[in-house]
Amino acid sequence: MLRTIAILTVISVIGVGFLTFGAAPPVAAAAQDDVKQVYLNKCAVCHGEDGAGKTAKGKKLKMKDVRAPEVQKMTPEQWTNVILKGSGQDMDGLRKTLARR
Ligand code: HEC
Repeated sequence: MLRTIAILTVISVIGVGFLTFGAAPPVAAAAQDDVKQVYLNKCAVCHGEDGAGKTAKGKKLKMKDVRAPEVQKMTPEQWTNVILKGSGQDMDGLRKTLARR
C-alpha cells in the first residue's frame, strides 16, 4: 500500500515536471521532498538530477530527457509499468528496490 502511494507520487511529481519542486504549497512540499529523495537515490544515477539523462550512464545508454514531450505524454499506467518492470535492456524494473525503502 505505502509502496503504491510512493510510486504514484513519484509518477505524478516527475510527470508534472521538475519545475514544480520548490513552488509547491507547504503540505505537498513535505511529500515532494520525500519523492525527490527517492528520485535522487534511485533514478538520478541514470536519468540525472534534472531528468535530462546527461550522466555518464545516461550518455552511454543514449537515453531521452524525461521532460521530453513524448515522455511526458506517457500515461500514468505506462510510467508505472516502466518503473516497476523496467524498459528496454538497460533500465531494470524497480519493484524490489522501491519496496526496500
Ligand atoms: C540503470 C539506469 C536507470 C535507472 C536507475 C532508472 N532508469 Fe529509467 N530508464 C533508463 C533507460 C536506459 C531508459 C530507456 C530504455 C529504453 O530504451 O526503452 C529508461 C526509461 C525510462 C522511462 C521511459 C521514458 C524513456 O525515456 O524512454 C521512464 C518514465 C523512466 N525511465 C523513469 C525512471 C524512474 C522514475 C526511475 C527511478 C525510480 C528510473 N527510471 C531509474 C535507465 C534507468
